[in-house]
Amino acid sequence: MKVKFAPSILSADFARLGEQVRAAEEAGADYIHIDVMDGRFVPNLTMGPVVVDAVRRSTSLPLDVHLMIESPELLVPSFVEAGAGILTVHQEACPHLDFVLSKIRSLGARAGVAVNPGTPIATLEEVLGTVDQVLVMTVNPGFGGQSMIPSTIEKVRRLAALLSALGVSPEIEVDGGITPERVGDLVRAGGRVLVAGSSVFNRRASVSENLAALRRAAEAATSDRRVGS
Ligand code: DX5
Ligand code: ZN
Repeated sequence: MKVKFAPSILSADFARLGEQVRAAEEAGADYIHIDVMDGRFVPNLTMGPVVVDAVRRSTSLPLDVHLMIESPELLVPSFVEAGAGILTVHQEACPHLDFVLSKIRSLGARAGVAVNPGTPIATLEEVLGTVDQVLVMTVNPGFGGQSMIPSTIEKVRRLAALLSALGVSPEIEVDGGITPERVGDLVRAGGRVLVAGSSVFNRRASVSENLAALRRAAEAATSDRRVGS
């Protein structure tokens, strides 16, 4: 069982973004996570397709683009064209969720759906058979560097149980406040793609040292016999 890591460039040094993305790739990252915020769905404004295109030219890793925007269907084609390999929309932003997810897939990207901490997993039940990834937010979205909300661990566990009951297998991604201390619980609960921003890109240690610490924590959890595949 492999746990993937998706460093979030939200905490990277934007003055040397290409260099930071290459450092993450060299350190063994699996995806590059790109947080798109519109100042409406969340109270922060970040980047758009131009930055996705710039990151695509800096790495061969799949780009995991997390849209925290209203009416994401309007920008899906631009993000796929810019190089999004996985495009995730929020359940809360999509009254026509099935339509948006199908549109992402029809354009050739993998489709993901995200839920905020206050949104029940049950709201996703109808689309779980048609998504490639389910993103469980472990903080309220909008900013890097927040503390993980502990009750989200149980939510990940319930999602993993629901997927297995339905016989479907989208990857479970977790995002927000993930530190080496939190990795074990999230992996044991069923998290398989771990997003980390401030615990990868910071001044305390290098990107490769930080990613190695996260990976060690995941390996310790996966060597635990209680964790299934
Ligand atoms: C939060 C974003 C996250 C953020 C995570 O709204 O979706 O991807 O970058 O940052 P950390 O790991 O610092 O909580
Ligand atoms: Zn994110």
